[in-house]
Amino acid sequence: MKPIKFNNTVLRDGHQSLAATRMTTPQMLPAAKDLDELGFGALETWGGATIDSCLRFLGENPFARLDALKPLTPKTPHMMLLRGQNIVQYTSFPDDVVEAFIRCTANHGMDIFRIFDALNDLRNLQTAVRAVKAAGKHAQGTLCFTTSPVHTPDMFVRLADGLADLEVDSICLKDMAGLLPPTIAYQIVRGIKDRHSDLPLVVHSHETAGLAGATYLAAIEAGADAVDCSIVPFANGTGQPDTVRMLALLQGNLRAPVLDLLRLARLRQHFEGVASELASVMSPVNDRVDSDALSFQVPGGMLSNFRNQLKEMKMENKLDEVLSEIPEVRKALGWIPLVTPTSQIVGTQAMLNVKFGRWKNLAQATADLALGKYGRAPGPVDPEVVALAAKSSGQTPVTGRPADHLPPRMATLRAELTAKGLPSDDDTAVLYAMFPRETEALLRPKPKSQPTVASGTAAAASTPRPVTNASTATAAPVPGSRLRISVGGESFDVTVEDLG
Ligand code: CO
Repeated sequence: MKPIKFNNTVLRDGHQSLAATRMTTPQMLPAAKDLDELGFGALETWGGATIDSCLRFLGENPFARLDALKPLTPKTPHMMLLRGQNIVQYTSFPDDVVEAFIRCTANHGMDIFRIFDALNDLRNLQTAVRAVKAAGKHAQGTLCFTTSPVHTPDMFVRLADGLADLEVDSICLKDMAGLLPPTIAYQIVRGIKDRHSDLPLVVHSHETAGLAGATYLAAIEAGADAVDCSIVPFANGTGQPDTVRMLALLQGNLRAPVLDLLRLARLRQHFEGVASELASVMSPVNDRVDSDALSFQVPGGMLSNFRNQLKEMKMENKLDEVLSEIPEVRKALGWIPLVTPTSQIVGTQAMLNVKFGRWKNLAQATADLALGKYGRAPGPVDPEVVALAAKSSGQTPVTGRPADHLPPRMATLRAELTAKGLPSDDDTAVLYAMFPRETEALLRPKPKSQPTVASGTAAAASTPRPVTNASTATAAPVPGSRLRISVGGESFDVTVEDLG
């Protein structure tokens, strides 16, 4: 029996889930050697919200982070989370941008690309999987777990058949909201392993509702090859189970990995220091294991983001109503999983339904989703909502692969950069495609006297406060000033407080 691999997520999902993705490269580097020497299956170091956060809040070039980490971690493969055709953004990009992004990232040393689509529409993984394989790297196909009348264990097993047809190198069962119960995990993993024993299978979960540790044990029992763990204080709660805790849960298990506890203790000590530097974005609410997450069915990060948004819309007393509207919206849109970007879209629509009456006010992104612009929904989409979407947007439903309707963009992006007097290499162009303003700001630093805005990310922020950090030259907003910030496509007016 092969030992179970532990992947480590502390440098990506760990701080994305518990510290609004604000860990800086200088805060990571001292941990690199110990992380590398421990013998983890992979280090998740990039992707998800980290690229957005580097550009928007930390004043870092995301590729420079990879360049800094790679030489310090020669023994362990690096892994990133990629949103299929959305890359690391909220909308679809043309194939040539997806391909260029993967080529650039592979050149900077990324080894494993964990690729998912929010709708589990495997057509949205095709281009990315092909590009990763063409770059000679490892393509991990992902199944996003969710619960709904159409999401049976058998449905996930059939989806895994589709991933195998794409010739992925491994499969990830991704439980982004911590909703996967142990017995269901056992059934899905067993089902997949029975049919694809050759494909390594990794399980990714969150401890939000207190299930992940037990779920990992059940998945391991069923034949899973790897699980994702993190390191306290960027573990447990809305993050992955802690590595030492998972080792303890596996004590006596013949497949338990052997990891150096002294190194793990040293890492924990280092990250405790980082957590105290990031205290302003960390909240005890995220550490709380709360089975309420099971009834809300929304990712933990979304819930805290939600509370902020409702407050800004003066709807804080409507939280329960909005939460019970979410299943209605999901059902109408074909029981889509809630993961970036669908979690933001469904959440916003649920708020609009409560504020203005159900389907009285359709957000553009909801219309796009209903019209199939993000891909095919897992269940049937309510025809009335499709009709409304067509009427409000003046567009017709998309039937084929959404990216087939998107013309190539790389040449235009390069030309735009050149016209602005900025570098037009592919690294710059792919970042500019997704984050035009932020990329331009990074390349053309503002004079220090001019304040820049720090705010919450749509994906991860629970407290939209500025993080001050010695490594960045970003000036904090002036206390007392009023700013307009945008969270998940919604604009809010905020007043800046002096937090001392
Ligand atoms: Co996650």
